[in-house]
Amino acid sequence: MTLEDYNAVMNPKVHGTWNLHNQLPEDMDFFLMLSSVSSIIRNATQAVYATGSTFMDAFAAYSNSLSLLKVELDLGMVTDIGYLADNKDLAQSMERQGFEGTNEAKLTALIQSAIVQPHTQDPVAQKVTGLGTWKPSVSLHSF
Ligand SMILES: NC(=O)c1ccc[n+]([C@@H]2O[C@H](COP(=O)([O-])OP(=O)(O)OC[C@H]3O[C@@H](n4cnc5c(N)ncnc54)[C@H](OP(=O)(O)O)[C@@H]3O)[C@@H](O)[C@H]2O)c1
Repeated sequence: MTLEDYNAVMNPKVHGTWNLHNQLPEDMDFFLMLSSVSSIIRNATQAVYATGSTFMDAFAAYSNSLSLLKVELDLGMVTDIGYLADNKDLAQSMERQGFEGTNEAKLTALIQSAIVQPHTQDPVAQKVTGLGTWKPSVSLHSF
């Protein structure tokens, strides 16, 4: 890939996260980040996206270790809003590979839950959803 493509994916994840962290007050009621299961499964063809998502996981853990509350959701495939809703071919490809879809109602319930119950006892615990089922010879990722 070109450096331009790499930066286009990485910059919103890394600089966007740091900019919000630096500019927003520390005492907000909640700070919720939406990241991706790519950070966990590192699916083929999405190396930079997976890396940016891993950065967000690490940033949430770092921030929580400083008692600066950041909640992060690692999402799978969101079906009816967002990027995959606008890119049906990619959504169908991911569905064939075994990813489990999350619709808007489930997504808003997950967001509500993450805000109301931000933490387990473990500050570096991650909230992961939509992993689905791995399919031999079809899935482009491994667990
Ligand atoms: N959709 C999914 O299935 C899915 C699955 C897993 C994780 N996620 C995560 O959920 C988050 C949102 O995904 P999405 O599907 O809603 O994406 P999206 O529809 O592409 O929306 C991305 C949003 O980010 C903004 N943005 C992009 N680049 C930016 C930049 N350089 N500076 C400031 N704002 C920028 C866009 O602003 P404009 O509207 O102004 O362009 C838009 O509001 C992402 O972190 C993604 O990794 C999504």
